[in-house]
Amino acid sequence: MIKNYFPLKLALGEQFCNREKERILLKDNITQMRPTVLVSPRRYGKSSLMHKVVSELNMPFASIDLFLAHDGAAVAKRITQGVAEVVSQIIPVSEKFLESVQKFFRNFKVTLSVGSFNIEATYHASAIDSTDQIFTSLQALSRLAKEKQKQVVFFIDEFQDIANANNSKAIQGAIRHVAQESSNVVFVFSGSNRGLLLELFDNKSLPLYMMCDKLMLQRMSSESYWPFIQKAATERWGDKIARPVFERIITYTELHPFYVNFLCSELWKADIAPDIDAVTNAWEYCFEIEERRLIAEIEKLTGNQREVLKAVAKQPVLEPTAHQFLTNVGLAYSSVHQAMKVLFEKDMLYKVKNEDNAILNSQIGQIRVLDPLLAYALRKYMN
Ligand SMILES: Nc1ncnc2c1ncn2[C@@H]1O[C@H](COP(=O)(O)OP(=O)(O)OP(=O)(O)O)[C@@H](O)[C@H]1O
Ligand SMILES: [Mg+2]
Repeated sequence: MIKNYFPLKLALGEQFCNREKERILLKDNITQMRPTVLVSPRRYGKSSLMHKVVSELNMPFASIDLFLAHDGAAVAKRITQGVAEVVSQIIPVSEKFLESVQKFFRNFKVTLSVGSFNIEATYHASAIDSTDQIFTSLQALSRLAKEKQKQVVFFIDEFQDIANANNSKAIQGAIRHVAQESSNVVFVFSGSNRGLLLELFDNKSLPLYMMCDKLMLQRMSSESYWPFIQKAATERWGDKIARPVFERIITYTELHPFYVNFLCSELWKADIAPDIDAVTNAWEYCFEIEERRLIAEIEKLTGNQREVLKAVAKQPVLEPTAHQFLTNVGLAYSSVHQAMKVLFEKDMLYKVKNEDNAILNSQIGQIRVLDPLLAYALRKYMN
């Protein structure tokens, strides 16, 4: 069995690289009980960061996911499951303590099964609405945590899907209420649709407006990947890889955490350490695996958006309004402007925030295609 150095899912334990500053920020927020929303484009490592930080803090922790929770009842069910998960970490799970837990959860039925408490709405409670169930279960958790003198973390991922519930605004109001008054439960929110997620926290007419600190995750740095990848190389092949090989990995993946793992997980399957050609071949193989998805993404765009994306893939741009760029794209300023706006909103373009000399031709302020494999595909199709 080859050790899994580069997972395609959560990066846990030793699989987790760096994020020093973000870890400190998130830890500070959690210990100061400040609700936080973790924001980034897809697959930058929000969930991994959250799990890492909580494991380091060693606090009772509920992690729930509202993915496709299509109505209030589904949201309530996941939240009460999360509540039960933390309760099982605060109080020893045994018959002896069942009653003391039940005391806090009056409208719920508390039962025991394989190592945890289960908290379910009783027939009576399911007659009352899901907002009430959410509010009372979170409030009960808060009281219990207070009595046990514990601080607990409640992580809600794919939080933007809360908007699917018909009583979404009321549920958000209930969460706000608990988040504001509880001194023992701290909330962290995240989600993979950045636009919809931020809407919930930036819209003045919604309950969670300005309630959270925002932590924006950027890409990684080559400085942090260098020792990390070398350690994995030494463990795998008994030696480091050469600097140009490393730089080729970074240039293809552009420090996008998912793609670094995607490419490296291919490379680390081989019995011998990669040279530059091996990196190129593996990246081409990654492209072949993903080609259908990439084509589907391109097909969803309008003609103008496609032209702009292609031009940026070919040549990342500092000044998209410059004459040269407009000539390359073959479109008027207003069309380019409009197309770029949409491409930024869709997280298909991004602006470089930190200079990193391991990436060829990268510069602060430059606009680039966010998905490095999509950029590669676009360049390929142009040839
Ligand atoms: N700090 C890290 N060190 C190593 N790998 C990481 C790190 N952060 C993320 N990754 C890798 O990047 C990929 C995406 O990570 P993760 O699922 O945590 O991101 P996410 O932002 O929650 O994604 P999504 O938007 O799809 O929910 C995974 O393959 C993960 O292993
Ligand atoms: Mg995630």
